[in-house]
Amino acid sequence: MSILLITDTQLGMALKNVNSEQWSPKILKWLENLEPSEKELQNLNKILKVINENNFEFIVHAGDIVNEIDKSNDLNNYKNFINKIDIDIHHIPGNHDVGLDPNNLSKEGLDFYNKNFGKDFYNFSWNGFELIFLNSSKFMNYSNQEVYFEQIEFIENTLKNFSPGKRLIIFMHHPPFIDKKDILKMGSDRIHEKDISYWMFEEKIYTDFFNLFENYSVDYIFTGHLHINLETHFNDTKIIATSAVGVPLGDDPSGYRIIDFENENLSYNFFEI
Ligand SMILES: [Fe+2]
Repeated sequence: MSILLITDTQLGMALKNVNSEQWSPKILKWLENLEPSEKELQNLNKILKVINENNFEFIVHAGDIVNEIDKSNDLNNYKNFINKIDIDIHHIPGNHDVGLDPNNLSKEGLDFYNKNFGKDFYNFSWNGFELIFLNSSKFMNYSNQEVYFEQIEFIENTLKNFSPGKRLIIFMHHPPFIDKKDILKMGSDRIHEKDISYWMFEEKIYTDFFNLFENYSVDYIFTGHLHINLETHFNDTKIIATSAVGVPLGDDPSGYRIIDFENENLSYNFFEI
């Protein structure tokens, strides 16, 4: 049994950015002559087809469900999509889902997320792993100390239930860390023209983050946010970002990932839609 991982459906992003200087050529090519929202919905329908043709145990959405939380049409379109799905879908928020300004997590943004999608951090067991779902915007916006420490406390209390060495898989929207060498392998030392420090936690924050887990084995962290596929690592933790269901921003197409655990071996292949 496997998990379907989708991320960055980001409904509304194509329309919002189709005339932007940076993204217009990329988006126009991606649209294949469809209207922006039509293309985004077509991709959601392709995901529905993948769900119907497979036997997934459950689905994870790694965040940026919609592009703007005040566009009720985009939210309704996404809800129509999940209403057609019979299996569980576990969401985690992206930066676009927890603030009108995607760089700033806000109370109204958190309320929007909690009201529509439930808890923004939680955990459950799967195949001997503990799966931990986190709101990574709380690390990016750590100056909001109250919400930052509330989630840290959740992690500490959750880990107390497990023996040292427990194998963990974390799902969250932002990668906590990206090793520059892994970008260089892709022929660039920047992502979307921005230094990699823009895309991950600050050093103090990712150091504290990984220290929380020092007695446990965080085998994998699955993320979205980058709109490209990227594999990197921090010590023994593999960090795997998946391209978007919506607008892709690099050379990788729109798509999804299947996480499979068979014969004690975890695979995580990406598929184009
Ligand atoms: Fe994002």
